[in-house]
Amino acid sequence: MNNKAIIQLDNVSKNYRRGPETVHAVKDVSLSVAPGEYVAVVGHSGSGKTTLMNIMGCLDRPSNGRVTVNGREIQEESESGLTRLRQTSIGFVFQQFFLIPTLNVIENVTLPSLFAGHKPNGRAMELLGKVGLENRLHHLPGELSGGEMQRVAIARSLINAPPILLADEPTGNLDSKNAGLIMDLFEQLNADGVTIVLVTHNSDIVKRCGRTVQIEDGAIIQ
Ligand SMILES: Nc1ncnc2c1ncn2[C@@H]1O[C@H](COP(=O)(O)OP(=O)(O)O)[C@@H](O)[C@H]1O
Ligand SMILES: [Mg+2]
Repeated sequence: MNNKAIIQLDNVSKNYRRGPETVHAVKDVSLSVAPGEYVAVVGHSGSGKTTLMNIMGCLDRPSNGRVTVNGREIQEESESGLTRLRQTSIGFVFQQFFLIPTLNVIENVTLPSLFAGHKPNGRAMELLGKVGLENRLHHLPGELSGGEMQRVAIARSLINAPPILLADEPTGNLDSKNAGLIMDLFEQLNADGVTIVLVTHNSDIVKRCGRTVQIEDGAIIQ
């Protein structure tokens, strides 16, 4: 156990029921992520990467083992405690962006702060400036390119100033130029102190991360 870790998994397993069989999606994984680290998670499709990210992000609970995120042991937390922990501590970025199609850019970015009970302030504008979208504030997601949509999603993930950013194949739907822009942004954020864990298949991205965790068949092999 590393007391300084911002994310700590001890002997974590996750099983799913699929009809009559049990799928062992994550098997006895132990992992510490220190504050300020930039970690790449790699592995074949179906190896358990998303399951592991969902557990680190408190979107899902493990079947066994202990998970501590930003000083909280998640098995001690109620559902509302976990919601609060996600709101204050974790930003999520997904391959599919998951923007709300009927809300414009600035509304999409502001929404998680409203859920967290904050009054709108200038932060959404500031973040949209940081990701280079100050001239797209009133566009709907459908009027944007994939790279722009992902930059909106990144701004949204940061609206509540989380210390942790979890990104599951964030460049999976982007061409190499837009993937490069997203990686530049992540590196800036990491330099500003945000802890990042990112799932990717892109070897150029892996080279740019601080550490690589390789998953095979639900277990860390390296
Ligand atoms: N909700 C679920 N119910 C049943 N099986 C699941 C569920 N989610 C994932 N799995 C299975 O768990 C394994 C790991 O999946 P996943 O974590 O999505 O892998 P990856 O992200 O590396 O592609 C796969 O065999 C997948 O089919
Ligand atoms: Mg996945």
